[in-house]
Amino acid sequence: MLILAIETSCDDTSVALFENDNLLFMDTASQIKIHAKTGGVIPEIAAREHANNIFKVLDKVLKNHYPNEENLTIFKKINYIAVTTNPGLIPSLLTGITVAKTISKTLNIPLIEINHIEAHIFSNFIERKKEDITFPLTCLTVSGGHNEIYYMKNMYEFEKIGGTQDDSAGEAFDKVAKMMGLTYPGGPIISDLADQYINSHKEEKKSKNYNLFPRSWLDKEKLDFSFSGLKSSVKREIDKRIEKNGSLTDLDRQEISYEFQEATIEVLGTKLVNSSFKYKTKNIMLAGGVSANNRLKEFIKSLIINSDINFIYPIKNIYSMDNAAMVGINAYYKIQKN
Ligand code: KG4
Ligand code: ZN
Repeated sequence: MLILAIETSCDDTSVALFENDNLLFMDTASQIKIHAKTGGVIPEIAAREHANNIFKVLDKVLKNHYPNEENLTIFKKINYIAVTTNPGLIPSLLTGITVAKTISKTLNIPLIEINHIEAHIFSNFIERKKEDITFPLTCLTVSGGHNEIYYMKNMYEFEKIGGTQDDSAGEAFDKVAKMMGLTYPGGPIISDLADQYINSHKEEKKSKNYNLFPRSWLDKEKLDFSFSGLKSSVKREIDKRIEKNGSLTDLDRQEISYEFQEATIEVLGTKLVNSSFKYKTKNIMLAGGVSANNRLKEFIKSLIINSDINFIYPIKNIYSMDNAAMVGINAYYKIQKN
């Protein structure tokens, strides 16, 4: 069974081809360089880029697997087309949906509509056997657009048990980066600067017994999040330093990145682990763009080191970010369920 998967919900044009649950090939055209100039995704520009890129990416994926065949011949071998239909930026989603529906209708190939958040959760099944993930589990999925915890009784039964009251953590990473004059997306840049700070200031870090920024626990028992207070604190600290010295130094940026990242991951990681206590599960899972953050994964591992909790996260960082492979694998399991 061949599944063609398409993802265009935000700023990545991604296409993947699956044979059952096996990813044959994926290609993604990233728009990061374009959006870096404006410090964030402008929907009309993203939509134009998707329209420019979709056929190149599609062609590359089809030709990679069947180099000597016409696209029409290849399309006729495909059993299902899967596409992200929501949530996302409407102008961006429209490119993927239009292409997928056109191929589906003209060639009579069944179309599978995929929810972006569910696909992020299913990114954990890419290159993994179904049996390697044990249920029930709780899953924190956190990116630029969402920040939620789900209780999963099994692969098909989800219940949302926590969410954000304002920003997502990914959005906070992006906004804090922008405040410090850094480019989009903020997550990887902040995490690199934080690493530089950890490497160059190990001793100071050890002796420091205060946190520069507050942890927004809300009610600690609750599995909900809020990052707007943290963002305001970061803004005040940046303004204070600029007022004192005229501008931010490289060291200021490293220290603020480190402190902001610690404040964010401590809350994310602790609430994920708490969700497993609250819902009496022995398995926790992480997904979404922010799951590419190594420090977050290290922190979660440190919390469960002496427990029997099993921690799952996407096998490769490319599966944490927006990609069509997560759409394809989600579709495969939907087909299995019929
Ligand atoms: O899932 P994704 O690719 O797109 C959305 O669905 O939003 O996630 C992108 C988000 C951005 O906010 C980006 O800053 C964040 O994930 N991100 C990270 C890291 N890599 C990407 N955040 C923290 N640390 C990272 N290493
Ligand atoms: Zn996403």
